[in-house]
Amino acid sequence: MPTERKAVFLFFGGTGDLAYRKLYPSLFNLYRKGNLRSHFAVIGTSRAKLDDDKFRAAIKKSLADSGNRTDSKEANDFISHFYYQDHDVTDTAHYAVLKELMDKLDKKYKAEGHRIFYLSMAPQFFGTIAQDLKTQGLLADGKDAFNRLVIEKPFGRDYDSAKLLNDALSKSFDENQIFRIDHYLGKEMIQNIEALRFGNTLVESLWNNRYIDNIQVTLSEKLGVEERASYYDNSGALRDMVQNHIMQIVSLLAMEQPVAFTDTDIRAEKVKALRSLRVYNVADAATNFVRGQYGSINDQADYRHEDNVPHDSTTETFVAGKLLFDNYRWSGTPFYIRTGKMLADKFTRVDVVFKRPLVDIFAFPQSQNTPLTANVLTIFVEPHAGFSLQLNAKTNDTGFSTEPIKLDYLVDAQKSKDTPEPYERLLHDVLKGDGTNFSSWPEVSYAWKFVDQIRRVWDLQEPQFPNYTPHSMGPAAAEELIQRDHREWVYRLNN
Ligand code: BG6
Repeated sequence: MPTERKAVFLFFGGTGDLAYRKLYPSLFNLYRKGNLRSHFAVIGTSRAKLDDDKFRAAIKKSLADSGNRTDSKEANDFISHFYYQDHDVTDTAHYAVLKELMDKLDKKYKAEGHRIFYLSMAPQFFGTIAQDLKTQGLLADGKDAFNRLVIEKPFGRDYDSAKLLNDALSKSFDENQIFRIDHYLGKEMIQNIEALRFGNTLVESLWNNRYIDNIQVTLSEKLGVEERASYYDNSGALRDMVQNHIMQIVSLLAMEQPVAFTDTDIRAEKVKALRSLRVYNVADAATNFVRGQYGSINDQADYRHEDNVPHDSTTETFVAGKLLFDNYRWSGTPFYIRTGKMLADKFTRVDVVFKRPLVDIFAFPQSQNTPLTANVLTIFVEPHAGFSLQLNAKTNDTGFSTEPIKLDYLVDAQKSKDTPEPYERLLHDVLKGDGTNFSSWPEVSYAWKFVDQIRRVWDLQEPQFPNYTPHSMGPAAAEELIQRDHREWVYRLNN
């Protein structure tokens, strides 16, 4: 039986795209599963002038758009828990209206004082809102009632701005009340990294620099910047994807086994891993990271001619890099990462490349055998979820040659369909108060310190953009980066 959770939610940015596309449908899934039932209410707030009826009609549409039937009693009951209050986040006095509504709904739905504040709007207001929530008395003060603050990205644009933001939030909320969203941590196969590593002797006993040659993380996107240029052009791939998603994935791959499977213990190990990540000096940052921006092909405009992008933009739409950990487990085993827009396909995968056997006994003098290939363990994150392990086996004939074969496990279509969306898991975790799949402040700060150093070096030099063709796997420099180390990307076009 699912445990029913109780809370009043207050969504800032409550009429935004994310709320309608992801957050409200995810709440509905939690409702259908019984994690939310009678003791909850949702207040949407934004500058828009709406009333409860109009807001509920928009919720109905959002549920329908995400494939739900909305003529059922269940859907209508769920929608009846939604309320709207327009609000200017900079108007401190107006928070009294939100407080009154929260108190009223708390009583009406017997939510026991539990409060979840969800900030999904322009980040420059995060600090003010957090402060006003406290000073204007919106935080629950009951002994057993919780206050939780959920924050969408971006969390700063460098270490200094992230620190300022964090200091502002810390005046109203403790670290264990702050849930910084990184939606990659809500993905099934990212969560599976821990199961794969710490649930399998076979895997974890080889999970180190003695047996692993290198690890590759690829987050490839097929689409360009679409209609998000005004945000993206101020961010670029390094801030948009590397500082958060990639650093989180890398820390899960690199961390030591936590003492226990709790948020505190897992976070402690991730932070330790990030602390041993080598922060590059200027010369190493320039050698170990490359950037790219897409050019044009056929009808596809180059990045600089996308809507709302300045024609002389130097924003990178592609990053590849090499990360080095200075610790006992990983010293000498690089992590290569890459991400970009307008690449060949949309997928996320991790390739763990093992060392070849020290001696290839099949390569005796008269042997026609091709050299043994490296074992590769691939974690397919999306679009298909699964694992694949490449081994060497004997070919099926009278001679003695070897060939690479694959052991594949792919999550079947039905299971994939039933897999909860990242936002459903993350909202459920917030209701439970489980911070495992959120970025803690120390993680965020180490990730920024690493990324800032790359940015600093890049900002000193005018890049030669555009430098990659749409639907490729990025600029030639990304190939050179890995080939220089006598290695190659496991995923290449046409393999
Ligand atoms: C977001 C970035 O965090 O992640 C987007 O801001 C990117 O630019 C998106 O497209 C990718 O997420 P997913 O889940 O589609 O791989």
